[in-house]
Amino acid sequence: MGRPPHFSLILLCSPLILSLTVRTVLSATFTLVNQCSYTVWPGILSSAGTQPLSTTGLTLESGDSFPISVPTSWSGRIWGRTLCSQDPATGKFTCATADCGSGTVECSGAGAVPPATLAEFTLNGSGGLDFYDVSLVDGYNLPMLVVPQGGAGGNCSSTGCLSDLNESCPSELKVVSSSGGGGGGECVACRSACEAFGEAEYCCSGAYATPDTCGPTQYSQAFKNACPRAYSYAYDDKTSTFTCASADYILTFCPTPSASKKSSGGEIAGVGSVSLVSSGAHHFTYTSTPPCTLLISLAAISLLWRWHI
Ligand SMILES: *[C@@H]1O[C@H](CO)[C@@H](O)[C@H](O)[C@H]1NC(C)=O
Ligand SMILES: *[C@@H]1O[C@H](CO)[C@@H](O)[C@H](O)[C@H]1NC(C)=O
Ligand SMILES: *[C@@H]1O[C@H](CO)[C@@H](O)[C@H](O)[C@H]1NC(C)=O
Repeated sequence: MGRPPHFSLILLCSPLILSLTVRTVLSATFTLVNQCSYTVWPGILSSAGTQPLSTTGLTLESGDSFPISVPTSWSGRIWGRTLCSQDPATGKFTCATADCGSGTVECSGAGAVPPATLAEFTLNGSGGLDFYDVSLVDGYNLPMLVVPQGGAGGNCSSTGCLSDLNESCPSELKVVSSSGGGGGGECVACRSACEAFGEAEYCCSGAYATPDTCGPTQYSQAFKNACPRAYSYAYDDKTSTFTCASADYILTFCPTPSASKKSSGGEIAGVGSVSLVSSGAHHFTYTSTPPCTLLISLAAISLLWRWHI
């Protein structure tokens, strides 16, 4: 008996089968996009016990994007550092906002010094779903948008904080730059009330350590009004956690041009322009190879048909 005819079809399509398998077993892609008018230095912190990524910190010039392969069960956080520079004398690298204190562009296991807008992920968590959110619990330093791509299930939608919160930041929470380059006095970030005042009520600690005892405050409410989908305090889960299965993610710093100061509602917009940037940095999608899919289906049907006779 000769080789069954389906065999060559399967061979022909083996790269497709392989890439499908690799996609589901190995990784998702996070594409970092900088639409800010300034350079952003993303920092990445993998949670304890989770596989580290290929980088823990990088430089992302205005207009650039950078894809990162992320293991399927990864969890951790990603943020953007701003106003960074290297000391010419010591070589030490520091940032005015969201510094990780490593002294280098790589954060090497160090997290962001608040205030920092954080994108948080737990991939393949409970029920096989990815859990993700954008958090202002540690304050705010720049607008950020997370857009899932090609995922399914859960409430798989965009989340983030589009408003420029350092503009609307209450004065007692403002972080003002001490910029050596003249000027100075500009608000560069907005602290959380917990960080600013250290009180249990704002930190959801002590007598306020449960969801029932720690509610929103006037400060968290101001964050929530500006960025309705972002975490505004520790127990803000219901309206701030999103879930999605087997997705890739685009993380955009300054998703809307800085002209968007008018977008007071903080609604999720500008998603269309983001997905334009993403193309090319992508995994296999079904639409790209309909002939192969068709061939495989035909082969499967003919096999089934033969077995039935
Ligand atoms: C997802 O997690 C479950 C266990 O929690 C594991 O069995 C499964 O292999 C994981 N899926 C992938 C694609 O890694
Ligand atoms: C917010 O901070 C960034 C630097 O992090 C700065 O470039 C921007 O101009 C600030 N926005 C306002 C409205 O002050
Ligand atoms: C999304 O779904 C998760 C559970 O799958 C739920 O906990 C969360 O509240 C939902 N988020 C929103 C914004 O509805």
